[in-house]
Amino acid sequence: MARFFIDGGTRLSGEVRISGAKNSALPIIAAALLTDKKVVLKNIPDVYDVRTMIQLVEHLGASTHFKRNVLIIHASRLKRLEAPYDIVSRMRASYYVLGALLARAKKAVVAMPGGCAIGPRPVDMHIRGLNALGAKIEISRGCINADGRNLVGRKVDLQGPKGTSVGATINVMLAASGAAGTTVISPAAVEPEVLDVADFLKTLGVEVSGHGSHRITIKGGNVFREGASYTIIPDRIEAGTFAVAAAITRGRVLIKSALSEHLTSVLEKLIEIGVKVTFKDEGIVINGRGSKRATNIFVAPYPGFPTDMQAQFMALLATVPGTSTIKESIFENRFIQAVELMRMGADITIEGDTAVINGTPTLSGTDLMASDLRASSALVLAGLAARGKTVVSRIYHLDRGYERFEVKLRRLGAKIKRGR
Ligand code: UD1
Repeated sequence: MARFFIDGGTRLSGEVRISGAKNSALPIIAAALLTDKKVVLKNIPDVYDVRTMIQLVEHLGASTHFKRNVLIIHASRLKRLEAPYDIVSRMRASYYVLGALLARAKKAVVAMPGGCAIGPRPVDMHIRGLNALGAKIEISRGCINADGRNLVGRKVDLQGPKGTSVGATINVMLAASGAAGTTVISPAAVEPEVLDVADFLKTLGVEVSGHGSHRITIKGGNVFREGASYTIIPDRIEAGTFAVAAAITRGRVLIKSALSEHLTSVLEKLIEIGVKVTFKDEGIVINGRGSKRATNIFVAPYPGFPTDMQAQFMALLATVPGTSTIKESIFENRFIQAVELMRMGADITIEGDTAVINGTPTLSGTDLMASDLRASSALVLAGLAARGKTVVSRIYHLDRGYERFEVKLRRLGAKIKRGR
């Protein structure tokens, strides 16, 4: 099983180019099933989750060609309407084919994704949203069986226990694209990836409006334009991760092709901590030299501080003098990286949904085990800043979402190697 071998203590310097957003690419690949026409997607990150989604759409009958971040999908005819457990269990986002298949074929069977390392992550809001559009859904033998023969545009209420849901908003948008009439989703998620999906649907010819607000309107139907070509937005979480990599190693890195407007809450926190952030035509310069101060982070839906950046900031704050806190309001059990960071000498206490971090002058390298995607990147960042050698195992978690992570880090001067 692949591992990262890191020799810590080098300040990163240079420039890095950010890849396309994984969390946009996954639903947009599923959305390509809406049409029998050819779709060309550009800036698709070559990460494991994307490869899994490609495998899934191929299983359903689409032909694909993926090279140099350009993915061509042609689902002229669907062969199957079932997403099997061995694919869904590898990647929760497989559930996006539920909305797409309902829209296209009025029928779908998708294995239940189950729990994951960061908590139970139910799909009740997806089911409620699709029900509201007239889909009949039954759960049997661990699968969601959906019948969309009566699919029709309606008002969909997506209020959940923690606000709305990114995944449910997108799944309902996909289904609504093939439902005659007008669908109004409220409250809808406003994450940039939701906007990206909406913009892609528009290139297909679906009438979408209100995306970016908490009320999205979709006029569905089955007429899709010929030859859609679409470029995915840059990955704000990858950009944020490299910003923290610069900050934690007290280095200076130019982050190219990131969209600063998607990173406001992350950059504001870095500035509060004492990191210098400069905006240039070519990108964002992150300068981690100089003194640092502790801060308090409250994780919240966009435009709040992203839950997917919480682990990386925990690693950074472990090296910043004073007492910092991180309050996670979106997922339960999302501080899994804390125990591993503590093994490096970090002083962290978990009190319910809040982590209290007392900064220490140095972390020390050791053997670490990755346990989920973002937690893994936090361990690598900590290893880059630590004294001595760090070995991070189970990096397949990281490969799910970061394109050539260690190669990009090495170009910035990091001493990191992939090995067994
Ligand atoms: C997406 C992102 C993930 C990010 C998260 C929050 C993808 C592939 N993943 O996940 O990286 O961390 O948004 O920004 O885009 N919930 C329910 N019932 C549901 C659905 C969600 O109770 O049916 C709860 C969840 O458990 C969680 C909250 O709602 O507490 C928000 O989850 P959601 O926005 O759905 O996250 P995902 O779409 O799974």
